[in-house]
Amino acid sequence: MDIKKVMVIGAGQMGSGIAQVCAQAGYIVYLNDLKEEFVQKGLGVISKNLSRQVTKGRMTEEEKDKVLSNFIPSTNLQDSENVGIVIEAAVENMEVKSKIFKELDQYAPNHAILASNTSSLPITEIAAATKRPEKVIGMHFMNPVPVMKLVEIIRGLATSDEVYQAVEDMTKSLSKIPVEVNDFPGFVSNRVLMPMINEAIYTLYEGVATKEAIDEVMKLGMNHPMGPLTLADFIGLDTCLYIMETLHEGFGDDKYRPCPLLRKYVKAGWLGKKSGRGFYIYN
Ligand code: CAA
Ligand code: NAD
Repeated sequence: MDIKKVMVIGAGQMGSGIAQVCAQAGYIVYLNDLKEEFVQKGLGVISKNLSRQVTKGRMTEEEKDKVLSNFIPSTNLQDSENVGIVIEAAVENMEVKSKIFKELDQYAPNHAILASNTSSLPITEIAAATKRPEKVIGMHFMNPVPVMKLVEIIRGLATSDEVYQAVEDMTKSLSKIPVEVNDFPGFVSNRVLMPMINEAIYTLYEGVATKEAIDEVMKLGMNHPMGPLTLADFIGLDTCLYIMETLHEGFGDDKYRPCPLLRKYVKAGWLGKKSGRGFYIYN
């Protein structure tokens, strides 16, 4: 499978990061979102990231322009008719993802791979929205994408070996390290990470300590680069809640129950860094 063109769906924090690393690796990237302004916002973030590389002397202005010339803005899923792989990074919601995959199945060429950057949802169920489940796969990048090395790769029930191999090869071409895991809710990364974050929110909810103290304990005591509440704000509290709900529903165990404080913040629109307010306030 010779992949040269990619469509990334969702120009939010993950989609823009995925699009950036693909364009930097030389792929032509259709960056898709619901509205042109969302695509432009994502491209703005990418441009800023690349400018920082230029300032640091890691890239020339010409190289930056070359990377930026690899992007084609898109607000129409029909553009997927031009690509060898689609990487979907829209919101963490099965209904939204199923609808996108159903539509992609109509437009993308028969040989095209349809990958999802879902954090927790079953790949097999996403694949069931299409008539090509053998070409559907999970390609789970970590945030911030340009910095983090890992991509968790998840096969659905029907994913073919050929598709797995192509996605593993592409991951390496992005200078990332692929790790294969099985299709369970939250995979490995969020099965382990998100209950820790949820528990940190419970410690705040129950008054065990202040938010600053909770973060400081985990940063200084466990050598984590960010405290769990700062990390939750960084991931997005809506995404954290969706993931906890997927774990809770998928395993049916009360230990995965989302903390009521997390629900409350999401209902208030306090989604973390991306909305300007979560556990902390951002300018
Ligand atoms: N985009 C691009 N580059 C970024 C960035 C971003 N959003 N944020 C930081 N960077 C770069 C900086 O430019 C800097 O690069 P150089 O070293 O080349 O100068 C480098 O990262 C370090 O940044 P800083 O010095 O500003 O800050 P830091 O040392 O505190 O590192 C961090 C920032 C890398 C984000 C670090 O705090 C960290 O590793 N945090 C934890 C991240 C994490 O756990 N991610 C996984 C989240 S869970 C997930 O992704 C899965 C899911 O499904 C929810
Ligand atoms: P985000 O809110 O920053 O961005 C989502 C983007 O998707 C928005 O720009 C939105 O307009 C767009 N979108 C929504 N519906 C769409 C549709 N039907 N078609 C096209 N675009 C659509 O969210 P994010 O943090 O980038 O998360 C995106 C996905 O990546 C989710 O599945 C999430 O679980 C996963 N993920 C998130 C993280 C993280 O740390 N935030 C890490 C790994 C994976």
